[in-house]
Amino acid sequence: MHGPHPSPARFSAPGPLRGTTGVPGDKSISHRSLMLSALAIGESRVEGLLEGEDVLATAAAMRAMGATIERGADDAWRIHGVGVGGLLQPQGALDMGNSGTSTRLLMGLVASHAITATFTGDASLSKRPMGRVIEPLGLMGAEISASPGGRLPLMVRGLCPAVPIDYRLPVASAQVKSAILLAGLNTPGITRVVEPIATRDHSERMLRGFGAELTVEEDGAGARLISIRGEADLRPQHIVVPGDPSSAAFPVVAALLVPGSEVTVTNVGLNPTRAALFDVLRMMGGDIVFANQREVGGEPVADIVVRHSVLKGIETPVETVASMVDEYPILFVAAALAEGRTVARGLEELRVKESDRIAVMAEGLRAIGARVEELEDGLIIDGTGGDKLPGGATIAARLDHRIAMSFAVAGLVSSAPVTIDDMGPVATSFPGFTGLMTALGAEVA
Ligand code: S3P
Repeated sequence: MHGPHPSPARFSAPGPLRGTTGVPGDKSISHRSLMLSALAIGESRVEGLLEGEDVLATAAAMRAMGATIERGADDAWRIHGVGVGGLLQPQGALDMGNSGTSTRLLMGLVASHAITATFTGDASLSKRPMGRVIEPLGLMGAEISASPGGRLPLMVRGLCPAVPIDYRLPVASAQVKSAILLAGLNTPGITRVVEPIATRDHSERMLRGFGAELTVEEDGAGARLISIRGEADLRPQHIVVPGDPSSAAFPVVAALLVPGSEVTVTNVGLNPTRAALFDVLRMMGGDIVFANQREVGGEPVADIVVRHSVLKGIETPVETVASMVDEYPILFVAAALAEGRTVARGLEELRVKESDRIAVMAEGLRAIGARVEELEDGLIIDGTGGDKLPGGATIAARLDHRIAMSFAVAGLVSSAPVTIDDMGPVATSFPGFTGLMTALGAEVA
């Protein structure tokens, strides 16, 4: 985990951003590739794995439950799985660090195995609600004792065989959906999740790729019905992880905002359940081109070419909130520089991410001179029309990587540099962020 001492940094941009860069592997796909490889019998190979703290927490947990996971000299990861049903009793608590995805998905795996696991995490993760997974996993037969408010630390006592359920998601959450599907892997019969609003579908794609029997149907009302047949046998795979669109979002928005910039971000995953930010930025007038579109490991991928653009404020679409749920912090920064008003609503879920991203973004943007009104479910932002923000403040990252990176980008378009009190949390999802931004032309002190 990142060190005990905060690492502050001050961001500004002396001139345009220019150059070509890649971004680290997709976080969601990286977690899932380790988990499913660890449940396949035989050797899987994963290239382009995100080597961030969140994913390493998943790797450590899967090792503690019996999988062999090694990084080869060629940078590829090799995983020997234990087979579905074969997870072993971990000897100590599973330390999830800052990672909600590790916690919720692994709770699902443990729930249908005859093992007991204790989950712990950092101060940010220990505030996040786990009731959303405790409820369905409890219906499947797992016994879960959580800290007050359904929070970490908590203990999951799995049941084997577990009971298959038919569950309608009360929140649009890929983590909850995935926890149930992963529990369903070792549950006899058919486990079904009804998803009224589509969320990222990496679990479905990858479970199928590993050989699980999984079907997706649509009901008349636009809901997705996802069924998995349990007691599955997973076959080892060779996975190539595309670049993370949620990480690409930071250099992309930086290039849109800093005058004179032109940046290419290569090999970015553009799964439609993930890529709505780029559509919204285009609706705002952003010059964003997808070049060299192709498919990598069953996911659409392209190189993103971005040029500086004067953006216009908009009402952000509510239909695609789930497809850009992690990108609102950086979108708010873009809106603060746009011409006119941006209204972003339907964002209740942002309040339970690594921080309360509505409150923290409102407070931070105000501190650097943006005009922001906070709503229960979103923000109203009146942009500068392209003029720099005053800047000059120090922003508390609050153990939230995306808050840190969003205000780092804001520093590039502020008259006085913006200081982030601790860039440490960025290592959870985007190791190398500061170096990458510096290589494109940012100044970091
Ligand atoms: C993720 C799902 C999303 C997202 C998170 C990763 C995943 O969380 O915010 O960064 O990999 O399934 P929710 O399911 O809580 O929306």
